[in-house]
Amino acid sequence: MDYSEIAPIMRTLWSPLAAVTSHWQGKDNVQIAVAISAASIVPDRPRVVVQLYKTNLSHSMVLSSGALALNFLKPDQTNLIGDFGLISGRDQDKLNGVAKTKGASGSPVLDECFGYLDCKVINAMDAGDMTCFLAEVIKGEALADGKPLWWQDARRQLPSEWLERWEIKQSSEVAASRATMDQVTLESWQPVLINRSSFHSGKELG
Ligand SMILES: Cc1cc2nc3c(=O)[nH]c(=O)nc-3n(C[C@H](O)[C@H](O)[C@H](O)COP(=O)(O)O)c2cc1C
Repeated sequence: MDYSEIAPIMRTLWSPLAAVTSHWQGKDNVQIAVAISAASIVPDRPRVVVQLYKTNLSHSMVLSSGALALNFLKPDQTNLIGDFGLISGRDQDKLNGVAKTKGASGSPVLDECFGYLDCKVINAMDAGDMTCFLAEVIKGEALADGKPLWWQDARRQLPSEWLERWEIKQSSEVAASRATMDQVTLESWQPVLINRSSFHSGKELG
């Protein structure tokens, strides 16, 4: 299949940029994600689906804690894309010096953002290279007017050095995904604290 035929459709499916925060065993972490969608039509029972790659430290932390918070970025927060999305929490404490408070789920919530959704994971589907986490929103707030930050707009403003790092990182992640995306485990998900062995977990917390 020629991807360029469907690219105009596919690029509309990414969400606004979110800083996905998590907490596990005394450590806070954050990563950038755009693979997020609404997953409930019941206004008083909001749910989201969040797709996290298994190679990310955040994946292990969300799998272990069963919690995450989505902090959607404001248009003037493009600097956080490099800080949170091009570096792993394995190499750096990315939330050091970032103003935050502990959310109801236990995940940190950023004081400065477009708005946040604090969530508890209720189910998960293995997709080989990543996990689709179904989560219920237990608390949330819109903190700014206007619109959130979208990747299509943000990438036009990023320094060329960041875009080069993004392209290199993305190429190796696409290769890793290609190698693992068919290795789907069809067992049902269990919260990791009850039965960790039934699911692919990250090596450092598994
Ligand atoms: C624009 C952008 C969008 C991204 N979208 C996702 C995503 O939807 N899901 C995901 O798991 N990683 C996504 N990433 C990659 C992670 O943010 C990145 O690998 C991060 O360094 C992982 O950090 P961690 O190892 O501390 O968890 C994205 C990165 C960028 C820059």
